[in-house]
Amino acid sequence: MFEINSILRNNIRNLTPYSSARDEFKGTEGVFLDANENPYNTPYNRYPDPLQWKVKEKLSLIKKVQPKQIFLGNGSDEAIDLLMRAFCEPNVDQVISINPSYGMYQVAAETNAVNFVKVSLNDDYTLNSKSIKDAITQNTKLIMLCSPNNPTANSFDASEMLQLAEQFNGLLVVDEAYIDFSSKPSLIEHLNNVPNLVILQTFSKAWGLAGLRMGIAMASKQIIDVLNRIKYPYNVNSLTQNVVLEALSNVHLMQAAVNEILVERKKLIANLSTLSTISKIYPSDANFILIKISEAKRVYDYLIDKQIIVRDRSKVHLCADCLRITVGTPEENKLLVEALANIGK
Ligand SMILES: Cc1ncc(COP(=O)(O)O)c(C=O)c1O
Repeated sequence: MFEINSILRNNIRNLTPYSSARDEFKGTEGVFLDANENPYNTPYNRYPDPLQWKVKEKLSLIKKVQPKQIFLGNGSDEAIDLLMRAFCEPNVDQVISINPSYGMYQVAAETNAVNFVKVSLNDDYTLNSKSIKDAITQNTKLIMLCSPNNPTANSFDASEMLQLAEQFNGLLVVDEAYIDFSSKPSLIEHLNNVPNLVILQTFSKAWGLAGLRMGIAMASKQIIDVLNRIKYPYNVNSLTQNVVLEALSNVHLMQAAVNEILVERKKLIANLSTLSTISKIYPSDANFILIKISEAKRVYDYLIDKQIIVRDRSKVHLCADCLRITVGTPEENKLLVEALANIGK
C-alpha cells in the first residue's frame, strides 16, 4: 500500500507553511487591514486567493475531480518543480524520465540537484516498461511520463502506465498537456484507485491561454496538500484567475478550437505527405506533428529565413532528421507547406 510519508522529504514533512494574510478569515466582505495593501485601486490592490477556490470549483465540475485534489500553479512547470522539491532529496534521490520527452523535467531535476535518469522509448516511440522498471532503485521518487508525448506526438497504453504505478513505491507523474487533442481518454478516472498517480494538465495548449500561465496538477488530497504547503502563497495572480474562470464558463469555445485544430492537423498531414523531401510523418495524437525530412537543420534554417519557426528536434534521441511542427491556422499551415514545397526551386 502506497504511503506518501515514506517518500516525502523530512524537511518538507516538518515544515510550517507560510500562513498568508487571508487564510484565517473565510468571508469575502470586510475591512481589510491585515495585509499592508494599498486601500485604493480596487480590485488589483488586493492579494489574490492563494488557493484559487473559484477556479478549482469550476474546474472540478469539468474534470470530475474534487477541488481538494487540484493544485493550480504558474504553468505546469511550477508543479513539475514542486514535485521534485517535495519528494527528492538533493544529491541522493533520482527521477526517471522517458527519452525523448519534454525538456523541463531534466531542467527541474538538475536545478534541484536530483539525479535524472533517462530511459529510452522503443524505436517506434512506445513505452519500454521493462527498462523503466529495471532503472528503479530505492532512491527513485518520481517517474515522469508524458502522454501524448512531446516531441513524439503519440500516446502510451493506459494499462501499461497504470501497471507501472502499481509496481512503484513513488509517484507516477503523467503529463497530459496535450490530452485535449488526443483520441485517448485522460487517466483522471483512475486517480481515486491509484494513490501514487499525479496528472498534469495545462491551460497553455487547448485552452489557448499560454500567456496567462496556469497549470494543473491532480492527485490524491494528500499529495496536493504537500504542493500547496510549499508553493509561493500567491503563485497565481488575480488577472489569470479571472480570465481562466471566464474560459471555464465557455468550454464550448475551447472545444471548438480543438475541433478546428484537429481538422487542420488532418489537412496538414495530407499536404505534407505529398512532399518527397519528407520521408516520414509520425502519427499525431497532439496539436503538433513530428516529421522526418532530409537535411532537417538546413530546412529549419531555410524556414527561419522565411520567418516560419518550427522546432528543430534533429539532435534529440530517436529523432534524427526530425522537425516538430505545431498545427497553426489554415493560413499559417498553407505558408509552411508552400515554403517546404519550394525548397531547392
Ligand atoms: C509536455 C509539456 N508539459 C508541460 C508544458 C508546459 O506547460 P505550461 O505552459 O503549463 O508550463 C509543455 C509546453 O510545451 C509541454 O510540452
